[in-house]
Amino acid sequence: MKVLGIESSCDETSVALVEGGRRVVANAVASQIPIHARYGGVVPELASRNHVVDIIPTLEECLSSVEGGLGAVEGIAVTAGPGLVGSLLVGLEVAKALAWSLGVPLVGVNHIEAHLMSPLLDYEGAEGLSGTPSFPFVGLIVSGGHTHLYEVRGVGRYALIGGTRDDAAGEAFDKVAKMLGMPYPGGVYIDQMALRGRADAFVLPRPMLRKDNDEFSFSGIKTAVLTLLRGLEAPPALESEVLCDICASFQEAVVDVLVGKLFRAARARGIKDVVISGGVSANSRLRARALEVGISSGVAVHIPPLWLCTDNAAMIAGLGSHYLSGMAGRGFEAFGLNASSGFPMGVLGEFGEGGGAGA
Ligand code: KG4
Ligand code: ZN
Repeated sequence: MKVLGIESSCDETSVALVEGGRRVVANAVASQIPIHARYGGVVPELASRNHVVDIIPTLEECLSSVEGGLGAVEGIAVTAGPGLVGSLLVGLEVAKALAWSLGVPLVGVNHIEAHLMSPLLDYEGAEGLSGTPSFPFVGLIVSGGHTHLYEVRGVGRYALIGGTRDDAAGEAFDKVAKMLGMPYPGGVYIDQMALRGRADAFVLPRPMLRKDNDEFSFSGIKTAVLTLLRGLEAPPALESEVLCDICASFQEAVVDVLVGKLFRAARARGIKDVVISGGVSANSRLRARALEVGISSGVAVHIPPLWLCTDNAAMIAGLGSHYLSGMAGRGFEAFGLNASSGFPMGVLGEFGEGGGAGA
């Protein structure tokens, strides 16, 4: 089955075609980062307006490399939440119009669930990381809005096992970058500057790392950086040695906590596969450390390649394919499908077996 995916939950408009739930035939992305950068964060009204501008050209770009064009589409999957409601509605309305006019089924999917399941897609050259994850696996979702751990037993079968008590990891990266005078979104700049810095130059806390639980907290690390900056004689200049050292020390603290907690969660459950996904999984130090710990502890580490880590429609089409082909037992959505920040993950109930699952 060839499924068209549509993603418009935040500041990326993306349309993709995935075949058989695994093969990415085409994936087109229009990023709004330059538009929002000057405001230091995503402006919701600007985001939805630009999705309106970008969605049809992005659809056309995606289909330009697809044999048969729209005629090849056998089902449609669209992000229904969580995300900015005005932005989500743009993708949803286009998805509904296309599904109605083509006479193909439509399914709404959860954006976080799509990140979590993105390693099920075929990809190459992901730094020698292990292939498709086996179930059960522990999944760490690290993005601008989420830092969550899930136990995954199959498509649609999840349990939320922990999350952050305050900032998401990506939010901490972006806020620290802002303190250092870097552009939005700052995660990628911290990653670049950290390559030239010393990770042991400044001593920063590792909140919750020693606690025997699945919780995270990042606001303490962020405050420690602020205190450190106030103690300096002058704000560090961009690209200076001290700025690179701060970036490396901050990044090391966040990565220590993320990697420590992920592998703790897997160990505690006797699970031998872990997945890291979401925008922060693009971080070079996080990828390297997770691989090191995976090798030394005999755990297979699955991290999608960079283009699949940040927001994209391939992961939406990939997950939607499983639902549309009935593999995970979820019915087709009616045209009454709506945007919702609480759009459920998977089959309702913990592990799809009834009870309270978390999204
Ligand atoms: O998943 P994503 O594209 O969007 C959502 O938040 O859903 O994640 C964006 C986040 C931002 O906070 C950005 O700073 C962070 O991912 N990010 C990074 C890197 N690349 C993107 N954080 C650290 N290092 C990176 N290389
Ligand atoms: Zn995302």
